[in-house]
Amino acid sequence: MTVSRPLRDLMSLDGRTAVVTGGAGPLGSVLSSTLAELGARVVVIDLDEGASQATADALDEVLVGPHLGIGANLMEAGVASRIVDEVERVAGGLDIIVNNAAFTGTSGVPGYAVPFDEQTDEAFLSAAQLNLLAPFSLVRTALPLLRASTHGSVVNVSSIYGLVGPNMRLYDGTSMGNPAAYGATKGGIAQLTRYLATVMAPGVRVNAIAPGGIARGQDEQFVQRYEALTPLGRMATEDDMRGAVAWLASDAAGYVTGQVIAIDGGWTAW
Ligand SMILES: NC(=O)c1ccc[n+]([C@@H]2O[C@H](COP(=O)([O-])OP(=O)(O)OC[C@H]3O[C@@H](n4cnc5c(N)ncnc54)[C@H](O)[C@@H]3O)[C@@H](O)[C@H]2O)c1
Repeated sequence: MTVSRPLRDLMSLDGRTAVVTGGAGPLGSVLSSTLAELGARVVVIDLDEGASQATADALDEVLVGPHLGIGANLMEAGVASRIVDEVERVAGGLDIIVNNAAFTGTSGVPGYAVPFDEQTDEAFLSAAQLNLLAPFSLVRTALPLLRASTHGSVVNVSSIYGLVGPNMRLYDGTSMGNPAAYGATKGGIAQLTRYLATVMAPGVRVNAIAPGGIARGQDEQFVQRYEALTPLGRMATEDDMRGAVAWLASDAAGYVTGQVIAIDGGWTAW
């Protein structure tokens, strides 16, 4: 039996440049190191210039670089052009975008992760701007570079709450919330993924991961209820997301586009 290229070669990101938004955050930094481990030069985008650069520097210490950190607020007008111009100037091209930055259920935005009747239009709009508009704008602005790459791949980060509604009983007796804008924007990015996959084909692939809840020291009652509702019996870790993102970013997923892959221990399977 003959195969086109060895799997090890298909998974290699040698010579490629990857942008990871929210790249200094808990999941973003793990995904940045995942792509760097496979050979990509990683551009870490996060709010704080120092944190972005520190994450890139930490990658440089152990993984082939040079990696780059850019401080950017993805909610500012014109930011997508600034990022794409800077990446082109420094790296000469762009092959991979991981749209990871978002307001999550724990972001301290007023009027956001509060009971439904207290959620505000302003918080909803802010979430839509960061979680949905920013990925749209960045990918559209980067389109010429992604097309020029012969390996263009976009990986969006959705959520199980973009696939199913929240079970509010999980949160009873805790201070945790699950905002409408979170699920709506994460569902929106799942659909944006399918839209972009069709309009950017055949040159660029666009997929998404939909992570389950990541264990971060949440309220014990919540964790117990969450785990009981998860076929694999535990919450996710950042580490659980590495394999799918590595695969989707690489040529090993060369015939995969428009897919939203739940990495949730089976949460959405029953
Ligand atoms: N944590 C979970 O349980 C979970 C579950 C499912 C999906 N997700 C998704 O995974 C992704 C990462 O989640 P996380 O928990 O690591 O998030 P986080 O809030 O801990 O980190 C997000 C990062 O984005 C950065 N960021 C925020 N606003 C920004 C802006 N305006 N411009 C630039 N950068 C900005 C933050 O500084 C931070 O480093 C998100 O898309 C989230 O929706 C998380």
